[in-house]
Order: sequence, then structure tokens, then C-alpha cells
Amino acid sequence: MKSMKVFVSKNIPEKGIDLLKENKLEVSINLENKNLTQKDLIKACQQVDLLLNVGYSDLNAQFFNQCKHLKAVALTSVGYDHVDMAAANKYKIPISNTPGILSEATADIAFLLMLAVSRKAFYKAMQVKQGQWNNSGFMQDLGTDLKGKTLGIFGLGRIGLELAKKAKAAYNMNIIYCNRKRNIEAENQVNAQFVTFTDLINESDVVSIHTSLTPETQYRFDKDVFKKMKRTAIIINTARGKIIKETDLIQALENNEIWGAGLDVTDPEPMLKNNSLLQMPNVCVLPHIGSATLETRTNMALTAANNLIAVSKGDAMPQMIKKCNFE
Ligand code: DGY
Repeated sequence: MKSMKVFVSKNIPEKGIDLLKENKLEVSINLENKNLTQKDLIKACQQVDLLLNVGYSDLNAQFFNQCKHLKAVALTSVGYDHVDMAAANKYKIPISNTPGILSEATADIAFLLMLAVSRKAFYKAMQVKQGQWNNSGFMQDLGTDLKGKTLGIFGLGRIGLELAKKAKAAYNMNIIYCNRKRNIEAENQVNAQFVTFTDLINESDVVSIHTSLTPETQYRFDKDVFKKMKRTAIIINTARGKIIKETDLIQALENNEIWGAGLDVTDPEPMLKNNSLLQMPNVCVLPHIGSATLETRTNMALTAANNLIAVSKGDAMPQMIKKCNFE
């Protein structure tokens, strides 16, 4: 049987490349590691059977129309909002993602942001770097404790549960959550309480977003929601930037309708340099690094590689996205 060719759209840990090669796949890589334009990505895909797509390039209808020959696409993310699943389904191209693998690393970033915002840590660190050792006032720039406070999780799945476990262990936080379906595992493990969206936003001291981006969740957090939150509340987003209406968030913070925000995801990404969130003491922004540890990224690369290897052997992708539907 002729060996299949795979294009790896950005650098991945060597182990991922080795695994592909050991399994007789012919590998080409975006060696310059630059962000490819769609035109470049389509061009590279013309030469191959399989795509290992690193990052969030828009795999839209135009991409699939021009790459209908692809036998499969493996993503290196759990989220797949950058993929037009209807277009992939139209050409019967299976897509895999990386569920479970990055839950702990991403929950770490949510926890880090929650703590950093509550103590204004990034802002103070920035001041120190700028030569301002501002700690003289007894009442200056005070933070807020997390101990015993209520953490409201919007979309309690694997990542949300990992965050809830950390918050419970570190600060004995009271966990409430809002989901389409109840999460019995979370209720048993961290005594999480299932509440309505209205109760979630009314009662939480910290709201952490862990849902996927869908038409229902897009801009779910807007000015009306911020108005209903506690004035002392912190919002954390490690899911997708578009779940928050960023202009409304800025206003809510400027008007002291909520207290702070920690964002690992923004809209757009990269965040524009002149975004006023970057100057606010109670805001921490990170450049979408939820899964960015060597261990996690290695596992993600290996998972993506294994999914493509399965296809090259005529098997189904083990982590094929449930929305793949070839009827
Ligand atoms: C994902 O995999 O979808 C996450 O955004 C990684 O941070």
C-alpha cells in the first residue's frame, strides 16, 4: 500500500514527528513555523493526504472546498469552533480533537488568573518592572481573598471540574455551576450545585467560563449580564474570547459593575495593543496559553499523530469529533 503524506502546519514536539515517521507516514512540516495564510495552507495541503493542524487556522468551507481530497484532519485543540463541520462532513473528512489531555493545564491557567486578578498581581509586577515599588499605603491597591467564596462555573466539563477541585482544595470555595445537563461527577466530587444562569451570575464571587463557543454561547456575557453580577465579582475566561462581549466587559469594569477579569482568550486574538483592558489594575490578560506546557503539548501532538496513523491504517480516528456525520 502506498504510504500517506501528512502536512504538519506548525512545529510540534519531536516525539510527534517521530511517531508519524515510525508509522511510515511521509511528513512535511511548516519549517519556518510562521502563521500560514489560508492560501498557503491550502497550497501545502494539495500535496498531502492528511493534515495535522496546529493552532486555530480557520478551516472553513473554502478550505474544505479546495481540500476535499484530504483523508482526515487532526486538530491540536479540544475546541473546534475554527472548523466548519458541515463542510468537513460534506466531503466525508473525519476530524479529531484532543479531549481530556489539556484539562489540568487549562484549569491551572484559570486558577492562576483567578488568584492573580484577586491580588492584582500582574499589574503590581508590571509596576515593579517599571521601577515603581508601590506598597507604601496601608489601603493601597488592596486585593480580595478567595477563601470560602463562591466559584460559579459556566460549562462544567473536564476543565471546569479540574478548576473546581483546585478551588475547593486551596480555598474551600463553594462551587455552583450552570450546564445544559447536570454533572453528577462534579456534584459528588466537589459538592457542586446545579443552578440557573441567573443564579450563577447573581451569586458568584468568581465566574469562570469553560463552555465551548457555539451560536448559543457567543456573547453570552454582555452588558446585561455584567449588570446583574456582584460589584465585587471577578470573571475568568479560558474558553473562547467571543463568549464575552469585550466592549461590554470594558464598560462594566470602568463603571465598577464588576471588580476584575482574567482572560486567557480574547476577541480578537492577538488582543490589540491599545485595548484599555491592558491598563487596568484588576485585569490580567494572557495570550491563550491554556495548554502550553511541554508535557501537555507533547501529549496533544501524540494524540493528533495517533489519530492520523489510525486513518493511514484504514481505522477510525480514536478521537473523532462527535459532530462528524457522514450520512
Ligand atoms: C483548546 O484546546 O481548545 C484550548 O483553547 C487550548 O488552550
